[in-house]
Amino acid sequence: MKLAHHLTVENGHLKINGQDCVALAEKYGTPLYVTSEDRVVEQFESYRKAFGARYPKVQVLFAAKANGNLAIMRALAKLGAGADIFSSGELHLALEAGMTPEKLLFNGSSKTPADLKLAVEKGVKVSVDSLDELHQLDAAARAAEKTVKIAFRVNPALEVPTHPKIATGLATSKFGIPHKEIPAAYREAMGCKNIQPVGIHCHIGSQILEVEPFVRAAEVMVRIAKELTNMGVKLEFIDLGGGLGIPYHHDTDPSPSPEDYAAKVIPVFKAGVEACGITPELWIEPGRSLVADSTILLTRVNSTKSAHKRFANVDAGFNLLIRPAMYDAYHEVIVANKADAPLTTEYTVTGPICETGDILAPDRKLPELAAGDIIAVLDTGAYGFAMSSQYNSRPRCPEVIIRGTQAGLMRRGETVADITATMERPDWQR
Ligand code: LLP
Repeated sequence: MKLAHHLTVENGHLKINGQDCVALAEKYGTPLYVTSEDRVVEQFESYRKAFGARYPKVQVLFAAKANGNLAIMRALAKLGAGADIFSSGELHLALEAGMTPEKLLFNGSSKTPADLKLAVEKGVKVSVDSLDELHQLDAAARAAEKTVKIAFRVNPALEVPTHPKIATGLATSKFGIPHKEIPAAYREAMGCKNIQPVGIHCHIGSQILEVEPFVRAAEVMVRIAKELTNMGVKLEFIDLGGGLGIPYHHDTDPSPSPEDYAAKVIPVFKAGVEACGITPELWIEPGRSLVADSTILLTRVNSTKSAHKRFANVDAGFNLLIRPAMYDAYHEVIVANKADAPLTTEYTVTGPICETGDILAPDRKLPELAAGDIIAVLDTGAYGFAMSSQYNSRPRCPEVIIRGTQAGLMRRGETVADITATMERPDWQR
């Protein structure tokens, strides 16, 4: 199986950044998420290089929902990244990680009054999702005697080749304002005293393995930019969102790079903004493609069993990685302590959760397994830990980060006491 260069096989063991996964599992216990910080840095730099070489004003915003660990956000902040934030929690994380408010865009289709107040207070830009929200934000800004810079989230009504649950720019999606109604929305915003419309924003979906849909989105966005410029809107940025996919099937999926994306999208973008006579910043919001392949989930085989098929029962389930259960997502698996053994036996790798759908990897050819073997689930850095839960009262596992030859915890494992810590005893049970 093709592996990115931070993953290697030596003497039968899988290594990440040169560190033995079996030793990491022994030291920190399983289940365990392990991230290569070097890989995250490398992916960020490849975005910056691909876009920076073709357009002078580019801002890369990390989609914090993909992986909200502060250690990762800090590493990205140090490189100059901003963030797409989708909640007040993500706003706090981004600021704590050292990102500057000017580089943050508060997205979301359902913001609370408290979210809007916080956005105003912290001076971040807001991607406004409806006219109702626009007026609430204007009122919040007026109350704080401030002006808020906004974009509208455009719904470009584009079909994209991905799982329907993660296509976000369909005409029927809950996100954004239909593209035909966008000029009217800006007119409305220009009439709001405490609102300054300075950007436009879209995001067409996630795990998209073709560049073509992004080109079509860019076409829609520059067409709108022209209309808005003609109306007198001074556009400071155009945000094309995130969405570039990664090859979860290592040997067969296409693997479009930031370079491929930039080479196709930037000419359309540049021609469009030149036609408007403006040079706005180009913003992009990658999540998955920055962090997914940096991380593996190590999980131990508790037992094996032959029933109607062979099962490997491991200690991580959809409590820690919900993507297979939720989107039928495919993740490669490697037996970390038998990484060069022949793949002789078909197993379905199942988690410990009390649900039939708790399957991490169905019908995979693996070496003969025994209790105690360590399985690495690959490409789990995006929407892995970030979507974890305590279902079945299972404490979430620790996360380790590796930089060069150093390894350290970036999150301790929870204990059962963490699970009960927020529970209260109502008066009548005292
Ligand atoms: N910007 C906005 C406004 C978004 O809604 C998203 C993702 C991104 C950026 C980042 O997209 P990315 O580059 O990561 O594709 N949990 C799903 C993915 C949901 C994506 C939601 N929005 C999964 O595990 O596949």
